[in-house]
Amino acid sequence: MPKRILITGGVGFIGVNAAERFLKEGWEVEIFDNFSRRGVELNERYLQGVTNAKNLTIHRGDVRRDQDLLVQLCEQADVVLHLAAQVAVTTSVTDPRTDFDVNALGTFNVLEAVRASSKKPMVIYASTNKVYGSLEHLSVVEEKNRYALGGGLRAVDESQPLDFHSPYGCSKGAADQYVRDYSRIYGLKTIVFRQSCIYGTRQLGIEDQGWVAWFMIAAMFKRPVTLYGNGKQVRDLLFVEDLVEAYVQAIAHIDKCSGQAYNLGGGSENALSLLEFFAILEKDFGQKLSPAHSPERPGDQPIFIADNGKFSADSGWRAKTGVREGLKKLNDWLQENKPMLQEFYK
Ligand SMILES: NC(=O)c1ccc[n+]([C@@H]2O[C@H](COP(=O)([O-])OP(=O)(O)OC[C@H]3O[C@@H](n4cnc5c(N)ncnc54)[C@H](O)[C@@H]3O)[C@@H](O)[C@H]2O)c1
Repeated sequence: MPKRILITGGVGFIGVNAAERFLKEGWEVEIFDNFSRRGVELNERYLQGVTNAKNLTIHRGDVRRDQDLLVQLCEQADVVLHLAAQVAVTTSVTDPRTDFDVNALGTFNVLEAVRASSKKPMVIYASTNKVYGSLEHLSVVEEKNRYALGGGLRAVDESQPLDFHSPYGCSKGAADQYVRDYSRIYGLKTIVFRQSCIYGTRQLGIEDQGWVAWFMIAAMFKRPVTLYGNGKQVRDLLFVEDLVEAYVQAIAHIDKCSGQAYNLGGGSENALSLLEFFAILEKDFGQKLSPAHSPERPGDQPIFIADNGKFSADSGWRAKTGVREGLKKLNDWLQENKPMLQEFYK
């Protein structure tokens, strides 16, 4: 019997990559998405042509209100990959209620649907490194082109205190804690991934979210962009295929991983400052950006680098795609899809 996965937010950037992978592996894939993210119809169309597309069903539904459909889908699933979310910090600041409803209440609804089911599928939740706030207590050293962690620290592990910043940080953080607690209190098999910056093919980045693709698309179409802060902010970048591999490994190692929260990112080898990222765009792809400058945005972490050690130890997973290789894959995809993207970004 093939396994069945329900992917909420499954026509979004991470969702489409996950759906393609699980279909390829022979799974039945059910997507539940309200299609609120602009451009996701392109991903829906793309999925119709992938290997084993016959095993895919896409349902239009909203995690805030379509509880009956969620319950029905959870009843049939072996795994629920919960990705549906309001994803932009900026939008969460202008409309915190919608952000709360989608991220906190929406996740609660998914958990309740799982709890009500007879099969109790495992739940994987895409949380965020934003749950650690701006990590003000860590010492940060300013170098020529980047910030670095001081005090001998190489990366941030799960022992850091939770410190939710921004409505997005609060709504995702509340959901993160609910997902963990449903494992403790109700015995559900749940895993939380506190994801760093994810990038890769099929990422329709906008200024407010998905900055790697956004800057590369802006460079390709010679669009104006704004750099917030001095550009020395460092992020560890994880290629989307490596993230999906982590989901696959989490399922394979559920007995060990259930009830856990894991930091997941590219790690120190794949960490770049914005200035370093711009330099790679110029050197590797001949694309020069001349951004306008604005003050840094509130709550922006000067540096975040995930320590992947706990998840690697529990599952054997490693990020395989080096950042330059991943950026090349993304750039190749952008170049191949230039006409479609031109239409989308006009
Ligand atoms: N991309 C990243 O760098 C990153 C980093 C950390 C965490 N995350 C988390 O990963 C998940 C997926 O992110 P993504 O980058 O693929 O974003 P995305 O915007 O591409 O995908 C989110 C999907 O959720 C759907 N959606 C939104 N509101 C919904 C609702 N009320 N009901 C049903 N569907 C709804 C959207 O239509 C979209 O298809 C999110 O939970 C996000 O918070 C992403």
